[in-house]
Amino acid sequence: MQLLRRNRILRQSPAIRAMVAETLITPADFIAPLFITEGENIREEIPSMLSYYRMSIDLTVKEVKELWQMGIRSVLLFIKCNDELKDNKGTEALNPDGLMQRSIRAIKNACPDMLIMTDVALDPFSSYGHDGIVENGEIVNDATVEVLAAMSVSHAAAGADFVAPSDMMDGRILAIRQALETEGYTKTGIMAYSAKYASCFYGPFRDALDSAPGFGDKKTYQMDYANRKEAVKEVLMDIEEGADIVMVKPAMAYLDIIREVKDTVDVPVSAYHVSGEYAMIKAAAKMGWLNEEKAILESLTGIKRAGADMIATYFAKDAVKLIS
Ligand code: PBG
Repeated sequence: MQLLRRNRILRQSPAIRAMVAETLITPADFIAPLFITEGENIREEIPSMLSYYRMSIDLTVKEVKELWQMGIRSVLLFIKCNDELKDNKGTEALNPDGLMQRSIRAIKNACPDMLIMTDVALDPFSSYGHDGIVENGEIVNDATVEVLAAMSVSHAAAGADFVAPSDMMDGRILAIRQALETEGYTKTGIMAYSAKYASCFYGPFRDALDSAPGFGDKKTYQMDYANRKEAVKEVLMDIEEGADIVMVKPAMAYLDIIREVKDTVDVPVSAYHVSGEYAMIKAAAKMGWLNEEKAILESLTGIKRAGADMIATYFAKDAVKLIS
């Protein structure tokens, strides 16, 4: 054959492939989610998330220092609230000495340059396991938004760099931004879970925090996975309301959404590679059915290639080890 163009020329050796690679993942791309629990010296493996742990504050601080050493620059905090502190209004979420607020302060103290992002939603604090206040079997919007705004201020006061509302109530970004402005937290960012879908892939996370909904599901506030245009509407509204970063969640079944959002907006886009996505790779690897290391790199590179500027992933540490 006499061909004018041979595409395999650019694939023939590792050196050439590395030179022409379009997408590179780096440690600074990753946001490491952390699950924090009360107590001291506690490190409990989450049964549905092999090799991922809930840790007490002291061990979380150690972990954060290690992440920093590795080049990871951002952590996303979730706390497991004790059952007796849960109520319908998420009262404990506003406690200035609550587990979240103490965790933020401890991490800031030990590792001041690490970016601290905090989950803002009521589910870990809710006796119903819902992201908002429940009235007559419904998750009510406006009363919930008030709590979310106060919660965000409380996280900012403790030292959070970004609040990350994951609740999907309407108008919460505006309310949070206004509350932060009113209280003088003009440097606190908002990473909005803008296109968050009602997904079965959150299952293991709800085990980690013991936060599964006590009744019903989250379909009246999280998005229907059949929809794409709606994701664009959500992110544009969140940006108008004051979001600094918008997020698409989950990631792997939503790569088209990540791309659509990336092409539409002029703010950074993050993607959340969620607990179920982690669990699937871990389980298949344990069975010997997938090469875990390759599956991690391929998944995370795919998410970045789709358009994510940053990725929240339970594989953050593994990925950094693999790429360095
Ligand atoms: C709660 C919240 C969830 C996740 C992040 N924040 C679960 C849910 O909405 O039920 C999921 C994260 C994961 O699965 O890794 N607002």
